[in-house]
Amino acid sequence: MPGLDHFGLLAPWYDKLITYNDVDEIKKIAALPAAGNLLDIGGGTGRVASSLVGLIDKIVVVDISFEMLKIARGKGLSAICALGEVLPYPSKSFSRALIVDALHHCINQKEVLRDVWRVLQTEGLLVIIEPNYDHLAGKVIRLFEKLILMKSHFLSDSSIVSLIADFTDNIRVQHYKGNSWFMVKKSK
Ligand SMILES: C[S@@+](CC[C@H](N)C(=O)[O-])C[C@H]1O[C@@H](n2cnc3c(N)ncnc32)[C@H](O)[C@@H]1O
Repeated sequence: MPGLDHFGLLAPWYDKLITYNDVDEIKKIAALPAAGNLLDIGGGTGRVASSLVGLIDKIVVVDISFEMLKIARGKGLSAICALGEVLPYPSKSFSRALIVDALHHCINQKEVLRDVWRVLQTEGLLVIIEPNYDHLAGKVIRLFEKLILMKSHFLSDSSIVSLIADFTDNIRVQHYKGNSWFMVKKSK
Protein backbone atom coordinates (compact mmCIF):
# COMPACT_ATOMS: atom_id res chain seq x y z
CA MET A 1 0.00 0.00 0.00
CA PRO A 2 1.48 3.38 -0.95
CA GLY A 3 2.13 5.67 2.02
CA LEU A 4 0.16 8.80 2.80
CA ASP A 5 1.48 12.01 1.26
CA HIS A 6 1.65 13.77 4.61
CA PHE A 7 3.41 16.91 3.43
CA GLY A 8 1.21 17.17 0.35
CA LEU A 9 -1.80 17.21 2.66
CA LEU A 10 -0.23 19.46 5.29
CA ALA A 11 1.30 22.03 2.94
CA PRO A 12 -1.53 24.62 2.92
CA TRP A 13 -1.59 24.64 6.75
CA TYR A 14 2.06 23.94 7.49
CA ASP A 15 3.16 27.50 8.27
CA LYS A 16 0.14 28.02 10.53
CA LEU A 17 0.81 24.75 12.39
CA ILE A 18 4.58 25.11 12.75
CA THR A 19 4.95 28.61 14.09
CA TYR A 20 8.14 28.34 16.16
CA ASN A 21 11.00 30.20 14.66
CA ASP A 22 14.60 29.92 15.80
CA VAL A 23 15.89 32.18 13.07
CA ASP A 24 18.06 34.33 15.35
CA GLU A 25 19.85 31.19 16.57
CA ILE A 26 20.17 29.89 12.98
CA LYS A 27 21.71 33.20 11.89
CA LYS A 28 24.22 32.96 14.73
CA ILE A 29 25.14 29.32 14.18
CA ALA A 30 25.27 29.62 10.37
CA ALA A 31 27.33 32.83 10.64
CA LEU A 32 24.90 34.90 8.60
CA PRO A 33 25.04 37.34 6.87
CA ALA A 34 27.56 35.72 4.51
CA ALA A 35 28.54 35.75 0.86
CA GLY A 36 27.56 32.96 -1.53
CA ASN A 37 24.55 30.68 -1.84
CA LEU A 38 22.50 28.85 0.77
CA LEU A 39 20.84 25.49 0.18
CA ASP A 40 17.89 24.52 2.38
CA ILE A 41 17.43 20.75 2.00
CA GLY A 42 13.96 19.49 2.84
CA GLY A 43 13.17 23.19 3.09
CA GLY A 44 9.44 22.62 2.51
CA THR A 45 7.36 25.79 2.48
CA GLY A 46 10.44 27.96 2.94
CA ARG A 47 9.37 28.62 6.53
CA VAL A 48 13.00 29.03 7.58
CA ALA A 49 14.52 30.14 4.27
CA SER A 50 12.13 33.08 3.87
CA SER A 51 13.47 34.55 7.14
CA LEU A 52 17.02 34.48 5.79
CA VAL A 53 16.42 36.44 2.58
CA GLY A 54 18.89 39.31 2.28
CA LEU A 55 21.45 37.64 4.55
CA ILE A 56 23.18 35.75 1.71
CA ASP A 57 23.37 36.25 -2.07
CA LYS A 58 20.99 33.47 -3.09
CA ILE A 59 18.78 30.90 -1.34
CA VAL A 60 17.56 27.65 -2.90
CA VAL A 61 14.94 25.43 -1.27
CA VAL A 62 15.11 21.77 -2.30
CA ASP A 63 12.31 19.39 -1.38
CA ILE A 64 10.49 16.33 -2.74
CA SER A 65 6.98 17.69 -2.08
CA PHE A 66 5.49 19.76 -4.91
CA GLU A 67 2.79 21.06 -2.58
CA MET A 68 5.30 22.29 0.01
CA LEU A 69 7.41 23.85 -2.77
CA LYS A 70 4.36 25.62 -4.20
CA ILE A 71 4.07 27.55 -0.93
CA ALA A 72 7.80 28.35 -0.99
CA ARG A 73 7.49 29.65 -4.57
CA GLY A 74 4.57 31.81 -3.49
CA LYS A 75 7.02 33.52 -1.11
CA GLY A 76 9.30 34.35 -4.04
CA LEU A 77 11.86 31.69 -3.15
CA SER A 78 13.75 29.57 -5.64
CA ALA A 79 12.18 26.16 -4.95
CA ILE A 80 13.41 23.03 -6.68
CA CYS A 81 11.91 19.56 -6.58
CA ALA A 82 14.76 17.13 -5.96
CA LEU A 83 15.89 14.46 -3.56
CA GLY A 84 18.34 15.57 -0.91
CA GLU A 85 20.13 12.32 -1.73
CA VAL A 86 20.87 13.42 -5.32
CA LEU A 87 21.25 17.18 -5.42
CA PRO A 88 21.12 18.70 -8.92
CA TYR A 89 24.06 21.06 -8.30
CA PRO A 90 27.75 21.11 -9.12
CA SER A 91 30.24 20.35 -6.37
CA LYS A 92 31.19 23.22 -4.05
CA SER A 93 28.38 25.52 -5.16
CA PHE A 94 27.00 26.53 -1.73
CA SER A 95 28.64 28.38 1.15
CA ARG A 96 25.86 27.44 3.58
CA ALA A 97 23.53 24.43 3.85
CA LEU A 98 20.62 23.82 6.22
CA ILE A 99 18.67 20.67 7.02
CA VAL A 100 15.95 21.71 9.47
CA ASP A 101 13.57 19.08 10.84
CA ALA A 102 14.01 17.12 7.62
CA LEU A 103 16.84 14.58 8.04
CA HIS A 104 14.56 12.11 9.84
CA HIS A 105 12.15 12.29 6.89
CA CYS A 106 14.82 11.31 4.35
CA ILE A 107 15.04 7.64 3.48
CA ASN A 108 18.77 7.53 2.86
CA GLN A 109 20.26 9.91 5.38
CA LYS A 110 23.83 8.89 4.68
CA GLU A 111 23.42 9.76 1.00
CA VAL A 112 21.85 13.13 1.90
CA LEU A 113 24.86 13.96 4.06
CA ARG A 114 27.27 12.71 1.41
CA ASP A 115 25.69 14.88 -1.27
CA VAL A 116 25.36 17.99 0.85
CA TRP A 117 29.03 17.62 1.68
CA ARG A 118 29.81 17.45 -2.05
CA VAL A 119 27.94 20.68 -2.87
CA LEU A 120 29.34 22.58 0.15
CA GLN A 121 32.32 24.82 -0.50
CA THR A 122 35.53 24.68 1.47
CA GLU A 123 35.07 26.89 4.56
CA GLY A 124 31.30 26.34 4.12
CA LEU A 125 28.95 25.63 7.03
CA LEU A 126 26.30 22.94 7.34
CA VAL A 127 23.65 23.31 10.05
CA ILE A 128 21.38 20.37 10.87
CA ILE A 129 18.52 20.68 13.34
CA GLU A 130 16.73 17.55 14.49
CA PRO A 131 14.41 16.73 17.39
CA ASN A 132 16.64 15.77 20.34
CA TYR A 133 16.31 11.99 20.52
CA ASP A 134 16.71 11.90 24.32
CA HIS A 135 14.61 14.94 25.22
CA LEU A 136 10.94 14.57 26.12
CA ALA A 137 10.02 16.80 23.15
CA GLY A 138 11.89 14.45 20.81
CA LYS A 139 10.18 11.41 22.30
CA VAL A 140 6.75 13.01 21.87
CA ILE A 141 7.49 13.89 18.22
CA ARG A 142 8.70 10.33 17.56
CA LEU A 143 5.50 8.90 19.00
CA PHE A 144 3.32 11.41 17.14
CA GLU A 145 4.97 10.75 13.76
CA LYS A 146 4.68 7.01 14.37
CA LEU A 147 0.97 7.33 15.15
CA ILE A 148 0.34 9.27 11.95
CA LEU A 149 2.34 6.66 9.97
CA MET A 150 5.02 9.06 8.81
CA LYS A 151 7.76 6.45 8.42
CA SER A 152 10.33 8.82 9.94
CA HIS A 153 13.82 7.55 10.81
CA PHE A 154 14.95 9.41 13.92
CA LEU A 155 18.59 9.16 14.90
CA SER A 156 20.36 9.80 18.19
CA ASP A 157 22.96 12.59 18.33
CA SER A 158 25.78 10.05 18.33
CA SER A 159 24.37 8.30 15.23
CA ILE A 160 24.19 11.60 13.36
CA VAL A 161 27.71 12.52 14.48
CA SER A 162 29.01 9.15 13.32
CA LEU A 163 27.40 9.62 9.88
CA ILE A 164 29.05 13.04 9.56
CA ALA A 165 32.35 11.66 10.88
CA ASP A 166 32.80 9.95 7.50
CA PHE A 167 33.53 13.45 6.12
CA THR A 168 34.88 15.49 9.01
CA ASP A 169 35.34 15.64 12.74
CA ASN A 170 34.72 19.39 12.74
CA ILE A 171 31.29 19.01 14.36
CA ARG A 172 29.75 20.86 17.28
CA VAL A 173 26.51 19.74 18.88
CA GLN A 174 24.28 21.90 21.05
CA HIS A 175 20.86 21.38 22.56
CA TYR A 176 18.37 24.16 22.21
CA LYS A 177 14.63 24.15 22.86
CA GLY A 178 14.18 20.36 22.55
CA ASN A 179 16.25 20.11 19.38
CA SER A 180 19.77 18.92 18.65
CA TRP A 181 21.80 21.34 16.54
CA PHE A 182 24.78 20.13 14.55
CA MET A 183 27.21 22.78 13.31
CA VAL A 184 29.61 21.32 10.77
CA LYS A 185 32.44 23.19 9.09
CA LYS A 186 34.06 22.00 5.89
CA SER A 187 37.68 22.94 6.39
CA LYS A 188 39.11 21.22 3.30
C1 LIG B 1 9.01 18.64 8.65
S1 LIG B 1 9.26 19.27 7.03
C2 LIG B 1 10.45 20.54 7.37
C3 LIG B 1 10.38 21.68 6.40
C4 LIG B 1 11.31 22.85 6.72
N1 LIG B 1 12.69 22.44 6.79
C5 LIG B 1 10.89 23.53 7.99
O1 LIG B 1 11.60 23.38 9.01
O2 LIG B 1 9.86 24.19 7.98
C6 LIG B 1 10.27 18.00 6.24
C7 LIG B 1 10.42 18.21 4.75
O3 LIG B 1 11.38 17.25 4.26
C8 LIG B 1 10.98 16.91 2.94
N2 LIG B 1 11.68 15.68 2.53
C9 LIG B 1 11.45 14.41 2.95
N3 LIG B 1 12.32 13.56 2.38
C10 LIG B 1 13.12 14.31 1.57
C11 LIG B 1 14.21 13.99 0.71
N4 LIG B 1 14.66 12.73 0.58
N5 LIG B 1 14.81 15.00 0.03
C12 LIG B 1 14.34 16.28 0.16
N6 LIG B 1 13.32 16.63 0.96
C13 LIG B 1 12.71 15.66 1.67
C14 LIG B 1 9.47 16.78 3.05
O4 LIG B 1 8.83 16.82 1.80
C15 LIG B 1 9.15 17.98 3.95
O5 LIG B 1 8.83 19.12 3.20
